[in-house]
Amino acid sequence: MTRSIEVVPLGQALGAELRGIDASVPLTDDQRARIIAALDAHGVVVLRKQQLTPRQQVALCQKLGKMRVSFMNDLSVPGVPELTVVSNIVENGKPIGLVDAGALWHCDGSYLPNPDLYTVLHALEIPQRDGQTLGDTLFLSTCAAYDALPDALRKALDDAEAVHSLTHHIQKKLDNNFKAPPVKDPKPDVVHPAVRVHPNSGRRCLYLTEGHTKELVGFSPEQSAAILKQVAEHVKQPQFVYRHRWQEGDLLIWDNCSTQHLAITDYGTLRRRLHRAGIESGALA
Ligand code: SIN
Repeated sequence: MTRSIEVVPLGQALGAELRGIDASVPLTDDQRARIIAALDAHGVVVLRKQQLTPRQQVALCQKLGKMRVSFMNDLSVPGVPELTVVSNIVENGKPIGLVDAGALWHCDGSYLPNPDLYTVLHALEIPQRDGQTLGDTLFLSTCAAYDALPDALRKALDDAEAVHSLTHHIQKKLDNNFKAPPVKDPKPDVVHPAVRVHPNSGRRCLYLTEGHTKELVGFSPEQSAAILKQVAEHVKQPQFVYRHRWQEGDLLIWDNCSTQHLAITDYGTLRRRLHRAGIESGALA
C-alpha cells in the first residue's frame, strides 16, 4: 500500500516538509510529480529521517533529472562521483569535503552556462552545542523578492544581464576569511539574465547573487556595484527568508531558480557532513 503524501508549509515565502515518502525506495511517477509540484510551490522541500545510501540518493536524483558530475572529483563520495561531500572534517591531514561550501548567498552552479535546477543535500552529521543544532542553512525566495522590487529597480533589471564568476566567488570567500579550495579547472565567466522565468511556474525570479554575480552588463562599474548592493539588501529581508534547522537524516531538495541559499558557519571544528547532488536544468527560459 502506498503512503499518502502530506505537504506542510514551513516558512512564509518558501519551505515545506513533505511527509510520506521513503527516499531509499525508487520513487513512483506520482511521488516524483508530488516532489516537483512541492518544489514549484515552495522552493525548498525537506523529507525528514531519511536513511539512504549514496547510491540510493543518486537513484532518487536520477528520477528528478539529469545529474551533474561534480568537477571536484577529489571531494566526491568515494566511488560515487555524482555526490560531493560538504564537510569541515579533516582526516589524515586532508579535508574530506568542501569546506565553507555555501558561505555567501548563491544559487548552485550559476557560474556555469547551464546552472543546476535542483540540489539534493542529505544530512549525515549535524553539529550541536548545548543541545542546539548549528550550521543552519538560510533560503530566500527569488520570486517573492522579485515581486516586491521597487518599480524603478524592477524596470532596470527586467531586460538586464549579469556576469557570474567562480573566480570572483572564490576571491570573495577568501576576502571574507572563508576557506575556498583551489579549483584545478577554473571555469570561464558566464552571462545570465538578471531575471529568469521559472520553467515550470512561469514566475519571474531574481538571478543576482552576492556570492557569484560579478557585474551587470552595460552598466558602469559604479552603477553596477550600487544596484547589486541594493538587490543584495532587498532579497535578504526576513519576509523572503526561511531558516532550515538541520536534523540528521534530513534530505533537502531545493530549486536554484526560485531560491538562493546561505550556509551559516557557526560550528568551528564540530563535525558537519552532508552529501550533495546537483541536477542540471534545461535551457534558461
Ligand atoms: C551549499 O551551499 O551547497 C551547501 C549548503 C550547506 O552546507 O548547508
